[in-house]
Amino acid sequence: MAGKLRIAVFASHGGSNLQALIDGCVSGQIAGEIVLVISNNRKAYALERARIHQVETLVISDMEFDSETAFAQELLSQLAAHSIGLICLAGYMKKMPIDVIRAYRNRILNIHPALLPKFGGKGMYGIHVHEAVLAAGEKETGVTIHVVDEVYDNGRILAQRRVQVNPDDTPESLQQRVLEIEHQLYPETVAKIASGELRLE
Ligand code: GAR
Repeated sequence: MAGKLRIAVFASHGGSNLQALIDGCVSGQIAGEIVLVISNNRKAYALERARIHQVETLVISDMEFDSETAFAQELLSQLAAHSIGLICLAGYMKKMPIDVIRAYRNRILNIHPALLPKFGGKGMYGIHVHEAVLAAGEKETGVTIHVVDEVYDNGRILAQRRVQVNPDDTPESLQQRVLEIEHQLYPETVAKIASGELRLE
């Protein structure tokens, strides 16, 4: 692949997956560069992580716009201005506007802390996913990286990795073990895309 893949990361909270992606680029594991971090939440620690690594940050919230179209237009103009080739959602707790999904078809990834199609969809984010896994008495859970399409948590699955559920797990202990796997699987998958080993069509 010619040149480095230019990546934008969308994150709403702590940004530990953003950190794993930054580290993957800095170490050379990923033949890419995180050039933009966008958050809907100006207090997100993800923004601080980006600043520490001299990555440009933007706070763009749907609440500031009269319509989804206007929100999408602002995102699209920023993504174009930064020549973004790949968008990684990393704990982004907002629905990506349809116009952005269409403009970046097969170029938006999401990480989900369960084995989709199980434990996906509305309300299934963050700690709620792990609570639901434990309530269902699952023996295993895991991590999914998928392409984002118009239907929530639905697009093509690119990678999955299993995590065992222990009898004494709490939602928090399970979340912690799943996160450790997220931090491996997201950079690995983005590295394969950046090198051309994994094709998104
Ligand atoms: C991660 O566990 C990610 O998989 C999850 O939010 C957490 C963000 O953590 N995403 C979802 O639940 C999306 N439905 P981070 O801010 O430390 O990367």
